[in-house]
Amino acid sequence: MDLPPLVLDRDDRSPLAVQLADALRAAARAGAVRVGDRLPSTRSLAAGLAVSRTVTAAAYDQLLAEGWVAGRHGAGTFVVAVPAAPRAGPEVAPPARHRAAAGPRDGTAPVDLRPGMPCVAALDRAAWRRAWRAGADEPPDVVPDAVGLPAFRSAVVEHLLRHRGLAADPGGVLATGGTTAAVAELARTLPRGARVAVEEPGYQRAAAALRGAGLAVLPVPVDGDGLVVDALPAGLAAVYCTPAHQFPLGARLSAARRVALVARARAEGFLVVEDDYDGELRYDVAPLPLLAALGPDVVVHLGTASKLLTPTLGAGWLVAPPAVRDAVVAQRDRAGVRPARAGQRVFAALAVHGDLGRHLRRLRRELAQRRRAVVAAVAAAAMPVCGDAAGAHVVVRLADPAAEEAAVAAAADRGVALDGLARHHTGAPTVAGLVLGYAGPARPELDRALPVVTTVLRRAASSTWAAGPR
Ligand SMILES: Cc1ncc(COP(=O)(O)O)c(C=O)c1O
Repeated sequence: MDLPPLVLDRDDRSPLAVQLADALRAAARAGAVRVGDRLPSTRSLAAGLAVSRTVTAAAYDQLLAEGWVAGRHGAGTFVVAVPAAPRAGPEVAPPARHRAAAGPRDGTAPVDLRPGMPCVAALDRAAWRRAWRAGADEPPDVVPDAVGLPAFRSAVVEHLLRHRGLAADPGGVLATGGTTAAVAELARTLPRGARVAVEEPGYQRAAAALRGAGLAVLPVPVDGDGLVVDALPAGLAAVYCTPAHQFPLGARLSAARRVALVARARAEGFLVVEDDYDGELRYDVAPLPLLAALGPDVVVHLGTASKLLTPTLGAGWLVAPPAVRDAVVAQRDRAGVRPARAGQRVFAALAVHGDLGRHLRRLRRELAQRRRAVVAAVAAAAMPVCGDAAGAHVVVRLADPAAEEAAVAAAADRGVALDGLARHHTGAPTVAGLVLGYAGPARPELDRALPVVTTVLRRAASSTWAAGPR
């Protein structure tokens, strides 16, 4: 076998044979050397490391004595076990907010109720296989393109028309690697130092993408009607927002604010980035016109297959005014970055066969049922949820960040991973509470986790955190 590079330090006081044995143990622990591997002969290893054969023979003797390599006469030296990790110092528990759920004491696996997971349980596996097979039937691509496959862009146009009421021209649609990737691309078309407003609390990966492009990110409050448009400062280059279902609090941007936002964008010359994440997932809430329909000249509309199907497809779309679209394409050409095609092909194949529409209906049904179950578990603690009946998470407000942290920790102790609102803020938290995602787990797991949610919320309501044991 080829060993990984082994570094011996001749200036080190520990003997070379000891260093070599240490390095081989470390390689085995890291998985670079595995059970069944044949180690090089002492002679060839000595030649490779420019040390004497006595050094390699002494190192191998040590490992033989430890029992994790064995010499087979005439056949060489083989790894027969992986050495145990050296004993570390005492473990320090991470702060509650970062603590992963350990799993309840009965040994069952933890349930993850953090948001951002797709509901793969709603996927019809036969349709999924069919779509991948159809995608694989295409001949291998030769020339990459910066705009996306025609079949994908047509599927997106149809999807936007049928499910989002937006009439887009296929020429105006660009394939993207998903919404976050698209925000990062758009950010790089703006001048460094330009000011971009984001919702507070809001989607922090978008804020990070904007910051990463050297833009100044300005948090703007949200309320029960979504982004507070009147609170937008002057001198903006862009506003990033989630009007369909404000992330994470769940309000829809009201009709009046939609009109006001587009009017201000036109008057002040800024761009509105409409992240339509969750837009297709509404349960008994009437749709409002997309910002892109109200202001196609000033709005960049972003959609994604991440929530509808899975983020692993890496497929999304962007509908933008021609100048913005051209700037993104020019940048892709300059950088040699093109949206990957596999996910586009699968999405297009699902759409062509009608499977996407069927999936969307099934997904809505499934998520609406799950939402009802979550709302009932919250109601059992005599608490309301905020936001519209939409998307794949609900938010429950708590008194303060301490109560939030205590609830997350208590749930983790009972094998349920919960998310708090604190990490969805750009600045100091303005609201505290739990973000309960219900798409990811299988149904039985969700049903197992909901009584835990009720318990921790009851305790949060009665503020017994400090008093009793968790
Ligand atoms: C508001 C919002 N937009 C976009 C995304 C992710 O979209 P994508 O996977 O296409 O980057 C998320 C994921 O959690 C989100 O919360």
